[in-house]
Amino acid sequence: MKYKVKCWECGKEIENNFLDACPSCNGTLTIEMDLSHLEGTSPQDLRTRPIGVWRYDHFLPIGSKPVTLQEGGTPLYDCERTADELNLRQLHVKFEGANPTGSFKDRGMTVGVSRALELGCKVVGCASTGNTSASLAAYAAKAGLKCVVLLPSGKVALGKLAQAMFFGAKVITVDGNFDDALRVVRELSRAGDLYMLNSVNPFRPEGQKTLAFEILDQLDFQLPDRIIYPVGNAANIWAAYKALKEWQSLGWIDELPMLTGVQAGGSAPLVNSFAHGQEDFRPVEDPETVATAIRIGNPASGRKALKAVYDTGGVMTAVSDREIIEAQFMLGRNEGVGVEPASAASIAGLKRLLDEGKISRREKVVCVCTGHVLKDPDTVMANCGQLIKTEATIEAVRKVIG
Ligand code: F0G
Repeated sequence: MKYKVKCWECGKEIENNFLDACPSCNGTLTIEMDLSHLEGTSPQDLRTRPIGVWRYDHFLPIGSKPVTLQEGGTPLYDCERTADELNLRQLHVKFEGANPTGSFKDRGMTVGVSRALELGCKVVGCASTGNTSASLAAYAAKAGLKCVVLLPSGKVALGKLAQAMFFGAKVITVDGNFDDALRVVRELSRAGDLYMLNSVNPFRPEGQKTLAFEILDQLDFQLPDRIIYPVGNAANIWAAYKALKEWQSLGWIDELPMLTGVQAGGSAPLVNSFAHGQEDFRPVEDPETVATAIRIGNPASGRKALKAVYDTGGVMTAVSDREIIEAQFMLGRNEGVGVEPASAASIAGLKRLLDEGKISRREKVVCVCTGHVLKDPDTVMANCGQLIKTEATIEAVRKVIG
């Protein structure tokens, strides 16, 4: 397992295992995998192992026995009814809610927590809008590590909060938003109080690459035209780009699908810069959206995400809270697939881009739905009809059924 940690901006090689940014230019870090031993092989060769994150271990920078909860291997649903409703040729949904803690974060965490053990760390920590904290708490429990999570006060969905507390993390809510919490965790990490497992830790996106690998694997290596991701702190769409480039470098795929990012209207710094063709972005001061998972104004991997979208000929768009909830319920109604609001942003973005003519109805599209509906039951209840109460008699129930 050969790899180098490098600065993504200036290319400097990073020797210190505990940095979260480049000491020369403050750029974000990335991992360069040595894939030379895979030359002359094909992705089919990996199919001797069960589908899941560790099928792709040649692409993961871990040499030790991993800390795993059998993450990945999530369904890729063919959503015919929704494709018909949207008048689109083909739509698949990659349902990341089927991961052990109910979100895609488990893909990065199996790698990140395995790395923490390799380094001999005793305490791991993160800032989170909820899912990262739920995932880290579970993997820390599995690894026998102490876990500290910082959450934006009052803005974390109930299911996620319950998970982090249930798995025994020290759960701290800070007076501020995700961006504030991330700043504090970075300071704690630099002071040596904890090993930070936010996605600025370059080992996290390495695990998240497997989401894109699986999509191609499940489509029998027939490329979709486009893959759509909800975007918050912006590492996941970047991880997809990195994954696709690695397979392209081996000749395993010829082209790249158009990577398309969707932000919530009240938290859309990257969409604003995409509209102007800029490589950089201006943070949004007070991000707001019902999709609390992506309520982020200053995405740490924002520049990487923009590159992923530009290089693949994708687009970025923003959707309103109403569009997000409508898309969430459409997927539930048509497909029996329950996703949380942030995840439904990918579907809402698809609908909007089709309506605007920015996506052709001839395309084969994959939407990544990042987390499970049970993560945020309050938002579901706030948008459903009333409960029906009756006496416990057949007559009373029949009357209500009509
Ligand atoms: N969807 C869900 C359900 C998420 O929880 C997140 C991020 C995203 C999409 C966006 O992914 O940040 O890589 O662009 N959640 C983080 C968290 C921020 O703390 O759980 P991204």
